[in-house]
Amino acid sequence: MAKNHIQNDPFQNQNGPFCVYRTLIEACSDIPIGRERRGEGNSGWSNEREEMGICLTWKDVWVTASVGKNGSKSILEGLTGYAKPGQLLAIMGPSGCGKSTLLDALAGRLSSNTRQTGEILINGKKQALAYGTSAYVTQDETLLATLTVGETVHYSAQLQLPDTMSKKEKKERADFTIREMGLQDAINTRIGGWGVKGISGGQKRRVSICIEILTRPGLLFLDEPTSGLDSAASYYVMSGIASLDKKDDMHRTVIASIHQPSTEVFQLFHNLCLLSSGRTVYFGPASAATEFFASNGFPCPTLMNPSDHLLKTINKDFDQKHMFEIAFLFYQVNELNSGGAETIPTEEVIRILVNSYKSSEMNQEIQKEVEVLSEKDTTATNTKRKHAGFLNQCFLLTKRSSINMYRDLGYYWLRLAIYVALAISLATTFYDLDKNYQSIQVIVESSFLMFVSSFMTFMTIGGFPSFVEDMKVFERERLNGHYSVTAFVIGNTLSAIPYLMLVSIVPGAIAYYLPGLQKGFEHFVYFICVLFSCLMLVESLMMIVASIVPNFLMGIITGAGIQGIMMLGGGFFRLPKDLPGPFWRYPMFYVAFHRYAYQGMFKNEFEGLRFTTKDGGSYITGEKILRDTWQVNMSYSKWVDLGILLGMIILYRVIFLVNIKTTEKLKPIIVSFMSSSGATKRKMQIMQNPNATPLQQVQVV
Ligand SMILES: Nc1ncnc2c1ncn2[C@@H]1O[C@H](COP(=O)(O)OP(=O)(O)O)[C@@H](O)[C@H]1O
Ligand SMILES: [Mg+2]
Repeated sequence: MAKNHIQNDPFQNQNGPFCVYRTLIEACSDIPIGRERRGEGNSGWSNEREEMGICLTWKDVWVTASVGKNGSKSILEGLTGYAKPGQLLAIMGPSGCGKSTLLDALAGRLSSNTRQTGEILINGKKQALAYGTSAYVTQDETLLATLTVGETVHYSAQLQLPDTMSKKEKKERADFTIREMGLQDAINTRIGGWGVKGISGGQKRRVSICIEILTRPGLLFLDEPTSGLDSAASYYVMSGIASLDKKDDMHRTVIASIHQPSTEVFQLFHNLCLLSSGRTVYFGPASAATEFFASNGFPCPTLMNPSDHLLKTINKDFDQKHMFEIAFLFYQVNELNSGGAETIPTEEVIRILVNSYKSSEMNQEIQKEVEVLSEKDTTATNTKRKHAGFLNQCFLLTKRSSINMYRDLGYYWLRLAIYVALAISLATTFYDLDKNYQSIQVIVESSFLMFVSSFMTFMTIGGFPSFVEDMKVFERERLNGHYSVTAFVIGNTLSAIPYLMLVSIVPGAIAYYLPGLQKGFEHFVYFICVLFSCLMLVESLMMIVASIVPNFLMGIITGAGIQGIMMLGGGFFRLPKDLPGPFWRYPMFYVAFHRYAYQGMFKNEFEGLRFTTKDGGSYITGEKILRDTWQVNMSYSKWVDLGILLGMIILYRVIFLVNIKTTEKLKPIIVSFMSSSGATKRKMQIMQNPNATPLQQVQVV
């Protein structure tokens, strides 16, 4: 029964009810169905329009994800389609059908555990999207919680728009976009997050969209831009996006995955890609989709939103509940006797639709269109976008980051409070250290210094969650090409310095003077400098960790582990000469920054001092204590130790920079390598699969 059904191609029937379908498609698409597209039907204007923008075509795209050991799961199965300038393509389907994955594949952002095969062409060429050519609004909002809506958009405008625009023009553009997204009332409200109430989820979505459309990118990917919005807001947001073209006369390509469009929003779509479990149920003009469903026996009931109908028909997650309904419509339309088979599982409905689409004339047309578009030799518009100059970026990022650090209590303020409390505790427990020589006394004093330079700095990882939030924002902005990595590192470093100074000076002063360490100001300055360097080093170390480890809990554990190992190898718990050779002495003793901090602080404290011995008759010099008791390398001054610490800060920040840059460069190479090996594997799998449809076999073999 189903077989007969599939062979009934609606397009073949010129006189039947399906001629309505054809007229409808022709009316809604600028391409006449079944005619040569490049011929008479196309005006020169339309061609010119397409030349200006970015044309994206994809052919037989498969994406598989590796799950567990040797297991893999197909997420997308042989999708073909196109997106043209001046058009809005909507990707729809039940959740988990692969909408986000398709967007990621098209934007070249698939995660590394996935493999992709098939051809994705940008303006007829296989090329990576240059940073900044496209903008991608992801499903999860990553915004700085402490900034207001206005600040977020304004900073973004200053950063992203080129220096050829004046500051005022940038501000105007930002204000205009804020109004366009209906955010003018929330302009002074903070974004919020992490338990701090701010704007609503829907407003956050709109802020994310706002930031990405500021530069009017030629290619715009939106992953569920309307979730969290009510139907009116959804309509305004979507129509705002769809009408961007009209405002600056540049024809952009918009691809959006949409969850639940209202009828009005649905009417804004030019093309619709309907997916179910990674397969194409329908690709073509949005307005012809209901007709396609109707022609296959699933007509949209009157007064029902077409998109609701489409999604309901192909949602098999709750099969038991709506099998009957579909069956009813299906059998009614086909004038069949439903007595024998009362239900039709959604799995079967999907199979019917998928196969019907495959053999439809619509599919042939789409394939042809993809061919035509991929052959098109355009002078690629895929050029890098210009943004603010490097110095301007550094300045803006420093400013933005300073504001964020100032407002985020967890970044430095909480640490300052805890450090002051700790410093008071330290100062009182070690109050008024005795300067008479007793070996135990020296050890007590050294322990104090050790505590300050390692345990106190260790707690700097407390600011890690805030930094991770920063990093998330950075990653999103970086992927969309808002600014350079170097500008981010410089901005973060410069903005952190004043706060770290504060965190080292205030508790440092309390902890330094009460126990009665060496009085000279120079000694105090040195002590603060080492404390500051250690704090900065721990922060830099955590930056490196954040760029490697995926989440903050794992990051804290990793960071704490690394520091624990470094402390052990620093030459305090075991004296340098007693450290076991492999690993602990070479290289740990040289790599661990704690060693330079301990030795510098010890030199700072003991050098130049003379301790009276127990009997009071003779003296013992600080240098002797350093050499004999702590085995400190006395061949260079304490300032060299500080110099090494400062050098390490720069080194750590450079490692972070290089790490991000290499990941960016290597990731596409690894993904393409994995894809090519994945392709061979898939060929074998399909050839072994007796159920594979003829179409797949033709394409693959
Ligand atoms: N990197 C991945 N590894 C494993 N499975 C994945 C990965 N990405 C997506 N998936 C799976 O693929 C399916 C489709 O995901 P997604 O594209 O996010 O769906 P949608 O956006 O349509 O809700 C889901 O079942 C999801 O679990
Ligand atoms: Mg999704």
